[in-house]
Amino acid sequence: MRAFATLDDADIKNKRVLVRVDLNVPVVGGKVTDRTRIERIAPTIIELVDKGGKVILLSHFGRPSGHDPKQSLKLLAPAIADVLKRPVAFAEDCIGKEATAAVAAMNPGDIVCLENTRFHVGEEENDPDFVAKLAALGDIFVNDAFSVAHRAHASVEGLGHKLPSYAGRTMQAELEALTKVLETPSRPLAAIVGGAKVSTKLGLLRNLLARVNVLIIGGGMANTFLAALGHNVGRSLCEYDLLSTAREIVAHAEAKGREIVLPVDAVVAQKLEANVQSRIVSVNAIGAFDMILDIGPRSVQRVISVLAQAKTLVWNGPFGTFEVKPFDQGTIEVAKATAELTEAGKLVSVAGGGDTVAALNSAIVAERFTYVSTAGGAFLEWLEGKALPGVEMLAANRCP
Ligand code: 3PG
Ligand code: MG
Repeated sequence: MRAFATLDDADIKNKRVLVRVDLNVPVVGGKVTDRTRIERIAPTIIELVDKGGKVILLSHFGRPSGHDPKQSLKLLAPAIADVLKRPVAFAEDCIGKEATAAVAAMNPGDIVCLENTRFHVGEEENDPDFVAKLAALGDIFVNDAFSVAHRAHASVEGLGHKLPSYAGRTMQAELEALTKVLETPSRPLAAIVGGAKVSTKLGLLRNLLARVNVLIIGGGMANTFLAALGHNVGRSLCEYDLLSTAREIVAHAEAKGREIVLPVDAVVAQKLEANVQSRIVSVNAIGAFDMILDIGPRSVQRVISVLAQAKTLVWNGPFGTFEVKPFDQGTIEVAKATAELTEAGKLVSVAGGGDTVAALNSAIVAERFTYVSTAGGAFLEWLEGKALPGVEMLAANRCP
């Protein structure tokens, strides 16, 4: 039996279903530039519609303080309707008169999107009064927003204590994929951890080291490890105050029999600029004015050979400064090899975190991984081994 209830357990017909989704999508000049999050919630919404539910969407958008027309979900309703290929009504508030009237007017199979929950301070404060007002609009609660599960907010956590609660299909898929990878993986289990700084990922590194067989370190944070092991990293990003912490992590890994894989060569340049002149050097030969901006070809081969031996991979963080070309190459090559191993049935590959997903999308390989999470912060907190309030709530309120 699952730790949480799913739509298989829910009686939906004619019910008012409050569905927490994550519509926090990137918008530039009024246009949604990446619809992934909307596409991911479509299966849950369509299933609820097909089962005769009245689908009431709840979401935050941005980090407004109070009401702010620039952060209105009204801007997104057309994109949602477009993805779902069904009409989506909009209510100017998520509680009170407007919301109540919009819900009262619904027929089974209708979809209404309520205004940004964060326009009310009660949302982030998980205020019982605000929770009660939301709960009055629905008969059951479906949480399909893993990417907000790290927030103990009213529409994520509080509401679950008031109404029968179920995981939506995307939440379910996300929890099943993530749980399998860290709790019951086929081994060897490898992790790739990249990104700029060791300091922001200490908890994550420690939790992963307790679980993985091989830890592959990339991105700016690898420079700190290289410096800790005595390499000169020139003008590269490096947290010199964390050298002893990095040495402790390496010693701890050795004591536990875990392998840490660091770059053996690097792509260096004297400034970070698109198509600037760059060189490939061994990590023993970084010049005083060099900046490490990507892993080199020998490192790429090394990582790929580790992945060829592994059975499961969890990936967070790019290898280089992938947003500036050609320093995206290391990440792209490892991503392509991961996709190939996955397609050949040799590797279960799960990736997540904002930058990671952007990097995989730019390498056009995200669809070829076993699972790519849409979560940023929630994915990181999960990798740290922290309890996520939105997930805990579903487990605590498991319905028969
Ligand atoms: C995200 O985009 O990571 C989620 O929607 C959560 O948003 P938040 O970081 O503003 O809580
Ligand atoms: Mg965030």
